[in-house]
Amino acid sequence: MIRNIILATLIICSQFLPTVNLSLAQAPNEKATYVGAGKCKQCHKDIYKGWKSTMHPYKFQQAAPANIVGDFSRNNSFEADGETTIMFEKNKEYFITTTGPDNKEHTYKIGYVIGGFWKQLYVTEFSNGELHILPAMWIVESQSWKERKNWSKAIYQYSCSGCHNTGTQINFDKSSETFKTTWSDMGVACEACHGPGSNHLNAEEDDKSGTIVNPAKIPDPRRAAMVCGSCHTRGSSGEGKYGYPSGYKPGGQLNFMFSEKPKLHPDDSSRANRQEYIDWKKSGHAREGIVCWDCHYTHRKGNSNKYQTKLPGSSLCRSCHEVENKGVHGIHSVNSCVGCHMSPIGKRAAKGDVHSHQFKVISPKETIDAGGYEKQPNSCNACHYHKNDKPEDMLNVLKKVKTFGKTGRCLIDRPNLNKADSADAKKRAAD
Ligand code: HEC
Ligand code: HEC
Ligand code: HEC
Ligand code: HEC
Ligand code: HEC
Ligand code: HEC
Ligand code: HEC
Ligand code: HEC
Repeated sequence: MIRNIILATLIICSQFLPTVNLSLAQAPNEKATYVGAGKCKQCHKDIYKGWKSTMHPYKFQQAAPANIVGDFSRNNSFEADGETTIMFEKNKEYFITTTGPDNKEHTYKIGYVIGGFWKQLYVTEFSNGELHILPAMWIVESQSWKERKNWSKAIYQYSCSGCHNTGTQINFDKSSETFKTTWSDMGVACEACHGPGSNHLNAEEDDKSGTIVNPAKIPDPRRAAMVCGSCHTRGSSGEGKYGYPSGYKPGGQLNFMFSEKPKLHPDDSSRANRQEYIDWKKSGHAREGIVCWDCHYTHRKGNSNKYQTKLPGSSLCRSCHEVENKGVHGIHSVNSCVGCHMSPIGKRAAKGDVHSHQFKVISPKETIDAGGYEKQPNSCNACHYHKNDKPEDMLNVLKKVKTFGKTGRCLIDRPNLNKADSADAKKRAAD
């Protein structure tokens, strides 16, 4: 109660002070420690249950039979550079026999698995506590193994753990050169987005509010979205030592500690996964303060898909936008907002399984200028991939609907346009 009065006073005073005093619900909790999601479950049962239905908790798990999706018994070997790698199971434990850093063959026990929705990777622990991703990767869609090259170079603790575990303590002991790494949760848990929770846990029942970061209360939407952006990004921190923003806590300033190194198409849109935040920053949505959780549930599976969106497909966009069925928006009988404004042009496990988050329509002109769809995809040909749907044809359609709009005539006579276009296409095919 007293706390609340002090906080209220601070907030009132802050209007007259040059610096703004942030409540704990907005600024990083520097003194608190990580307690683990099991503790939060006691009081936030429904949220805990909902979170368990999302993908976040399953980022990193024990190598137990229930968590393994790769085929360790029949389709269980592959060859690369003349060397054979074999994956097998023995007494419910999992192993990979492959060439090690010393160029000799070894059998490695799998300690943990990563992912399993699109691909699954396997983690082993060296005798000094270093964690490494083994060279065999299971691709879910094709149900096949693929090699991961140069597997022993990157140390998991420095390259991955900040985004795939919560509350990681690397604990590297210089004198013995060993790691005694710990974490509070294996996957992406409550405190990855809310920051360490010990102060909140210890606060009196009536004073809980304001003792842990609530991303929705961070006043600057760009700083708020950094909560998601600390993982849905690509780059490094600590002069390249870490593959994630080491030291970032929810509420903090990501850009002060992280150098982005996105993989981009020539037009500046993402060609790889986990760059949603990098895309988003360039969008009108970022400018207007529409953040990730305006579209995505944070602790709930979406009612329609695995991406936790609040409404399915175009109905999500229509919940905020009214679009007239004319001009470019009159080309189609069914306007797939996501199809044109969030084209699937990035790659996670398979080409085109990641949606652009810049929300801009990529013109076929970009494809023509870059010299082909392989070099630069566009929004139209992402769906119109048949032989006759050339980027040039798509661009003509766009030019037509735009000119109609500008001359102020009936915006689009769809049946005629369609007919004209198919006649054009036939003529070109005959030429
Ligand atoms: C002993 C019960 C208890 C435990 C354990 C607990 N909470 Fe809370 N939490 C509360 C109460 C009570 C509130 C205040 C609810 C309100 O005011 O609407 C709250 C509020 C919150 C808020 C909103 C804060 C704000 O200022 O808007 C967040 C976020 C939160 N809890 C996250 C967590 C997380 C994460 C954990 C685990 C680290 C956790 N809680 C553990 C009882 C608990
Ligand atoms: C992926 C990030 C993320 C994870 C993981 C996460 N949260 Fe949240 N949480 C948010 C965001 C963002 C908000 C504010 C916006 C909203 O409610 O969607 C929020 C809001 C809350 C609130 C206050 C509003 C409400 O819904 O009552 C509580 C309490 C809370 N979270 C508890 C938890 C607990 C407990 C867990 C773990 C079981 C958890 N969160 C896991 C991101 C996350
Ligand atoms: C600590 C790192 C971390 C944070 C913070 C985080 N995410 Fe994630 N998120 C991940 C990882 C890793 C996955 C992949 C889970 C998997 O595939 O098993 C994921 C998966 C997702 C997915 C499911 C789709 C997919 O491609 O797997 C959505 C949607 C998502 N995150 C949104 C958010 C939002 C919104 C926030 C902020 C409120 C957020 N995430 C915060 C790491 C994080
Ligand atoms: C900056 C944060 C970050 C770092 C560092 C990171 N990842 Fe991820 N990873 C993510 C996010 C976010 C996703 C899911 C969202 C997406 O794919 O867009 C993901 C997805 C994955 C998936 C796909 C999971 C599935 O269900 O198919 C695997 C496997 C994976 N990461 C392994 C790794 C490995 C191995 C490393 C270290 C070499 C690593 N990641 C480093 C954030 C990160
Ligand atoms: C304007 C709405 C909107 C906003 C804002 C938004 N997303 Fe999305 N997001 C979507 C839609 C729509 C999909 C695709 C869902 C589908 O295919 O059904 C998606 C898909 C994803 C996926 C799955 C992988 C992919 O790219 O296809 C992840 C991860 C994700 N979003 C994370 C984020 C993060 C992190 C932010 C904030 C930086 C964010 N999103 C902001 C609407 C949004
Ligand atoms: C929570 C509300 C909300 C949702 C949901 C939403 N938008 Fe927006 N969108 C806005 C606001 C606000 C603006 C900025 C004002 C404006 O330009 O109208 C905006 C702007 C845009 C712009 C213009 C961008 C620019 O750079 O100027 C496009 C395009 C757009 N949204 C597409 C979409 C699509 C596609 C979806 C669905 C995946 C979507 N929006 C979902 C609120 C929303
Ligand atoms: C056939 C592809 C296509 C579809 C489908 C589509 N759009 Fe568009 N949209 C465009 C193009 C092209 C523009 C003009 C953008 C430009 O010129 O950069 C545009 C512009 C916009 C704008 C910005 C308008 C402005 O004032 O700048 C918004 C908002 C928008 N669309 C929302 C939507 C919504 C919501 C849907 C689903 C109902 C949708 N669009 C479906 C292609 C499409
Ligand atoms: C989400 C997938 C998708 C996207 C993205 C898309 N289209 Fe289409 N398009 C279709 C489908 C399906 C049809 C046929 C049914 C209809 O009219 O809705 C179609 C029909 C058309 C037609 C009528 C063709 C005929 O012969 O009847 C034209 C013209 C067209 N699209 C142009 C475009 C242009 C230009 C773009 C890019 C701005 C685009 N489309 C983006 C799926 C898509």
